[in-house]
Amino acid sequence: MIIETERLILRPFRESDAEDVFEYLHKPAVNCFACMKLETIENARKEMKERVGETEYYFAIVLKENAKVIGEIDAYPETGEPHADESSPKDTFSPCWMLNKKFQGKGYAYEAAHAFFDYLFKEKGARRIYAYTEDYNLASQHLCEKLGMRREGLFLEFVSFVNNPDGTPRYENTCQYAILKKEWR
Ligand SMILES: CC(C)(COP(=O)(O)OP(=O)(O)OC[C@H]1O[C@@H](n2cnc3c(N)ncnc32)[C@H](O)[C@@H]1OP(=O)(O)O)[C@@H](O)C(=O)NCCC(=O)NCCS
Repeated sequence: MIIETERLILRPFRESDAEDVFEYLHKPAVNCFACMKLETIENARKEMKERVGETEYYFAIVLKENAKVIGEIDAYPETGEPHADESSPKDTFSPCWMLNKKFQGKGYAYEAAHAFFDYLFKEKGARRIYAYTEDYNLASQHLCEKLGMRREGLFLEFVSFVNNPDGTPRYENTCQYAILKKEWR
């Protein structure tokens, strides 16, 4: 699948994307991506080999003007309800988004996320899209709000991605945002 916007192409990853991805995943900007950190360019090449088969829900964000991969966006179908069983529809999605620092503040994240939400709602059966962001991640919260998502709550000490220097888990406060298909314009 390829999604086109005014300035961007969203397309599946290719093995040749390793250098561009290494540029932003060598030092992930937020703790929730700590487990995605790529220590070396060799790790990045290996990671790209694993990503190439992902063609429906995991996209490289590519600048049309020079074909550079400047970030990524993905979300997979989930059963949204707390009491869901195997027969429940997978109509709920929770996106992850990340841009290379050099390309932030230019509206690219909004352009990519808007097109991705449109694709999930119109072509992938999404009924509800929700996002978690750390309470200090104002850029991500701003993006959620610009996309028309409602802030649904703040979960205190909800999740831990990294440890404190003494080895104990460092818990983060997490905001939840969401938007329903019927709210999407
Ligand atoms: C979250 C993240 C993707 C947001 O990226 P971003 O670049 O700040 O978001 P946008 O692309 O929407 O750009 C926003 C700003 O670009 C500016 N901008 C410049 N040119 C623009 C243009 N042509 N069109 C639109 N906005 C433009 C605007 O000032 C806009 O701010 P505004 O909405 O107040 O007008 C980015 O901060 C990131 O990758 N962070 C690290 C990873 C992360 O935190 N992921 C989420 C974990 S929960």
